[in-house]
Amino acid sequence: MLPIERSPTGLRAMVAAWRADGARVALVPTMGALHDGHAALIRATRAEAERVVVSIFVNPRQFGPNEDFDRYPPDEAADVTAAARAGADLVYAPAISAMYPSGYATTVSVAGLSEGLCGAQRPGHFDGMATVVTKLLLQAGAGSAWFGEKDYQQWLVVRRLVADLDIPVRLRAVPTVREADGLALSSRNRFLSPGERAIAPRLAVVLHEIATRATATPDAIAPLLAEGHAVLTAAGFKVEYLEIRDAETLAPCTTCRAPARVLAAVRLGSVRLIDNWPIPTAAQRA
Ligand code: PAF
Repeated sequence: MLPIERSPTGLRAMVAAWRADGARVALVPTMGALHDGHAALIRATRAEAERVVVSIFVNPRQFGPNEDFDRYPPDEAADVTAAARAGADLVYAPAISAMYPSGYATTVSVAGLSEGLCGAQRPGHFDGMATVVTKLLLQAGAGSAWFGEKDYQQWLVVRRLVADLDIPVRLRAVPTVREADGLALSSRNRFLSPGERAIAPRLAVVLHEIATRATATPDAIAPLLAEGHAVLTAAGFKVEYLEIRDAETLAPCTTCRAPARVLAAVRLGSVRLIDNWPIPTAAQRA
């Protein structure tokens, strides 16, 4: 059975002891509901770490009042089993009161990158996420921390805060893990009805097609987005956003002459899905 640590001080002591013994320690932050994407993330850490900590904490501060916080009922036993199977050495699962004790008053806010896209649709989400990730990184003191590219805006926000706050950790991102039909793995996929599940892979298909065509016609991206929006809507999605942004700054693009990403958030019934696809420049593809 994998050990479970609940206190920040216990976690820090354990990681410090491993590091003192010469082990490289990796942190994989999660909100539980572990799936094969998390397992791939945990397995990937093994290339660069002898010890792997998986944090499981459903962070109330990154959910809005009408969001699906209550749909994350913790199944800790299942998550611990999944983490162990994927190769973790320790689960860190603090209580909400350990993360945000009475009197807690600090928020980490990353200007710019947190605005727009999911930041516009989910006010306060990135402040809550940035705050808990900062705390997790400082509590663990691991040498590396690993994130998935599916949450691409989150990844850029985390990179920025680590650089700005001089947090001594190496960040790693791993590519999105997909089902055979292209659907990006997500804890939210389990809420899709069979009918919605049948539609959901269209999102990745449309993003991939936009990315391919944007590389070929980098100056004509507005019609691609309009067409993509229409295709998704006709398929049954409610599109929150479908945009092409600079891959580093997330600035809106009018052309694709620098590396870019096509990013989308859509709803299928009550389920919100996000996904993104890289758009290499023609030179990068050659
Ligand atoms: O991507 C997630 O699961 C969460 O946003 C994270 C990084 C664990 C912070 O709560």
